[in-house]
This record gives sequence, structure tokens and C-alpha cells, in this order.
Amino acid sequence: MEIREQVRRRYAESARAVTEGSGCGSGSCCADDSSASAVTSERFGEALYDAEQRGELPDAAVLASLGCGNPVAVAELHEGETVLDLGSGGGIDVILSANRVGPTGTAYGVDMTDEMLALAMRNAVDAGVRNVHFLKGVIEQVPLPAESVDVVISNCVINLSVDKPAVLTEMARVLKPGGRVGVSDVVAEDRLSPDERAERGSYVGCIAGALSRSEYVAGLEAAGFEDVSVEFTHEVADGMHGAIVKAVKTHDPQAKGLPVIQPAASASCC
Ligand SMILES: C[S@@+](CC[C@H](N)C(=O)[O-])C[C@H]1O[C@@H](n2cnc3c(N)ncnc32)[C@H](O)[C@@H]1O
Repeated sequence: MEIREQVRRRYAESARAVTEGSGCGSGSCCADDSSASAVTSERFGEALYDAEQRGELPDAAVLASLGCGNPVAVAELHEGETVLDLGSGGGIDVILSANRVGPTGTAYGVDMTDEMLALAMRNAVDAGVRNVHFLKGVIEQVPLPAESVDVVISNCVINLSVDKPAVLTEMARVLKPGGRVGVSDVVAEDRLSPDERAERGSYVGCIAGALSRSEYVAGLEAAGFEDVSVEFTHEVADGMHGAIVKAVKTHDPQAKGLPVIQPAASASCC
């Protein structure tokens, strides 16, 4: 089966488990089933959010948290901004972002899994946020127009993509010049080969598909970002880390010899 379909099925199952109340909370879902444990639950999911943030969220949104960081905490969102969450899952970071940008701002979530989109929409209603839109789509081809977003966030999703250069290019396309990236992801130390990463965990468990730190930096720079940083925050497997990835879309791509992004198709949204 194609990797993307394996990923979709895996997260559809996670969403169903939360919806049916049969578990999959405690942050064990982004990790391999075989490694689900108390330690794993400290490295993925709801434990990465503080009590105040959890208090803003319905229980099902907290339970559905499958991330490896807390991108809303690093993105420094402001009133009135437009935020896009790539791979929004049960909606936790979209809901938190919507509260930060307020009624004059907007938070979009994009996800390819119907069950996750349905869960996220229910969670947004339960949380009482109205300035949110959940879009069905893939993060390699984001269903939003060029230069329409101030901030791109994402939580433990880019490692799951089978075409990471396309994701990074799409991030640059949808961001306004000077727009920011604040992403949490699993990132490997440069010493680990792709095979060594795969020995440490599965693709759908967010380990085997992780970029190394220097691959992340080079990929973002090639896509038109500057001020790129990748900071390891906590180890999730030997030589593999939850990391905060930050970058700024360059104001002047032409001066840097980067492709100039043309305003593209209109959004197929909501
Ligand atoms: C590990 S979960 C993280 C969910 C959410 N960001 C969180 O922190 O709870 C991965 C999510 O990304 C979605 N996803 C994975 N690959 C995707 C792709 N290529 N395009 C769109 N969504 C994708 C899955 O459907 C799933 O909801």
C-alpha cells in the first residue's frame, strides 16, 4: 500500500478511537504502537501543552493531540493574523491559534483525513471558536491562494510527507513576504542515515520519515526562507528529537536568486 494511504488509515483509526471513546489519548498515537508507554506519552501529545492551554480546549481535542511539540507556544501569534496549520488533526492547534488571533484573525487547518476533519470541526464547535476553517487537502498542495497567510504552523506532520520539498515550497507560496514558520516536528541528528532512522521507528509513527537537521535547514533555504533555525527540545528515540523549526519567508526572492511566486488559484475552502 502507498505510504500516504498507510498514513491516512493510521490517523483515521486514531480519530475514530477518540470519537468512539476507545482510547488513543495520552499522546501514544504518533508513536509506534509497540513503543506506547508512559515515557512515550511524555514525548508526544497532550503532555506538551500547559494546563492553561488545555483549559481552553474540549476534552476530545486534548485527547486527539498527536503532536511532538507545541507550535502555538513558539509562533508568537498576534491579533488579526491569519494562521495555517498543516495536518491539523483533531484541531488542537487551530483552536488555540484562533483564540490567539481573535475575532479579527483567522485560523485554517488542512488535513487529508475525513475522520480527523470531522473531529476537528466538532471540537471547534465545542470550544466555541468561530474564526476557524478546516480544509480537506494535502499539505503538498495546499488549497489556499498564494501570499494569503501570516504564519504557518504544523505539529508532527511534515515527517509524514512523502514529498517534503513540495511541502516546504507550498509553505513559501502561501505565506506573505516576511511571513513566519513555527513548526514542531521530529528531526534526526545529522549522523543518522535514512536506514538508521527507519530502524528507530515506523513511517506512520513519525520516526522513519524524519528529516535530519541539515536537510531541514537546506530544504527551507532552497524554498525561499531565511533566519532558519532547528532547535532540539526532547529526544524521542536514539538520535531523534522533537524539535522547533523556525524560519521567515524572504522579502525579496529575486535578489536571492529564488523563484518568484505567482499569485495562484483561488481557495477552495470550507
Ligand atoms: C501525527 S498527526 C498530528 C495531528 C495534529 N497536528 C496534532 O498535533 O495533534 C498527523 C496528522 O496529519 C495528517 N496528515 C499526514 N500527512 C498528511 C498530508 N500529506 N496531507 C495532509 N494531511 C496529512 C493526518 O491525517 C493526521 O491528522
